[in-house]
Amino acid sequence: MEYTKGTVVSVQTIAPGIIDMLVKAPGIAKEAKPGQFVCLYCDDNAHLLPRPISICESMNGHLRLVFRIVGFGTAEFAEKKSGDPITILGPVGNGYPEIETDDVTVVGGGIGIPPMLYLSRKLKEQGKNVTIVLGFRDKGTFLVDAFENYGKVVIATDDGSLGVHGTVVDAIRELGISVETVCACGPMPMLKGLASYTEQNGGTALISLEERMACGIGACLGCITKTKDIDGHSHVKNARICTEGPVFDSKVLDFSRS
Ligand SMILES: Cc1cc2nc3c(=O)[nH]c(=O)nc-3n(C[C@H](O)[C@H](O)[C@H](O)COP(=O)(O)OP(=O)(O)OC[C@H]3O[C@@H](n4cnc5c(N)ncnc54)[C@H](O)[C@@H]3O)c2cc1C
Ligand code: FES
Repeated sequence: MEYTKGTVVSVQTIAPGIIDMLVKAPGIAKEAKPGQFVCLYCDDNAHLLPRPISICESMNGHLRLVFRIVGFGTAEFAEKKSGDPITILGPVGNGYPEIETDDVTVVGGGIGIPPMLYLSRKLKEQGKNVTIVLGFRDKGTFLVDAFENYGKVVIATDDGSLGVHGTVVDAIRELGISVETVCACGPMPMLKGLASYTEQNGGTALISLEERMACGIGACLGCITKTKDIDGHSHVKNARICTEGPVFDSKVLDFSRS
């Protein structure tokens, strides 16, 4: 993990409120694994806490970060121009483990979609048979073309304006998509439903949690999630998403307490 000044290469709006930023940060890009994230720091010292953003792609010394503008920090990053410096800590978190099965279903929902792109590319490079299920609110999609390079893409929309009408779980069920190994990132209700369906069908769900964070480095316990077993750090049934996660096998998580 490295604390560095990256250089913004480009900033583009790819859908309403969705920003695609390319940053030159060779040290972090070299180490980054799919499922890991970076902490971006604001220039305004009144906002000290870093903003965690997943690594959407890591290639040739550059990081691709795709984020939704929701508050002060993400609005500030969206205003960056080519050549601007940006303070980054990373790569943070555990990332996805090696996948043993030949068939892998990659699932992303909303702003949980970006990190699944880097994972999909790596899985394709490993010769896996990748099916990608992307859930959007409506036909205002993003990154779909990029995903099509790495596997068969299925889209589900809440309003039925594109693809399967319903959730990603509805699409998986309706189209009989394999849940032997599922890798997913998205909103908590989606992850809970997907984990439950996957476990009921004998599969493994490796899910990435994007809950609120504060320090981003394991020090504040601001990002804990409930687990079934006692964790060695806090000695209670918790895990820190920033350090033990963000990727967990759903079987270790206790959704009934979250
Ligand atoms: C591991 C991880 C990966 C993430 N990856 C992405 C991504 O790739 N793209 C994307 O659009 N968003 C992602 N998020 C959510 C993103 O971190 C928040 O939207 C962002 O921090 C909001 O900052 P803000 O200053 O604009 O909003 P504000 O609401 O002003 O933020 C106030 C504080 O709350 C924290 N906070 C607010 N919302 C979240 C949240 N959902 N998760 C964590 N901290 C939050 C901020 O970091 C900040 O410290 C990720 C979150 C996590 C935990
Ligand atoms: S955000 Fe501080 S411990 Fe995870």
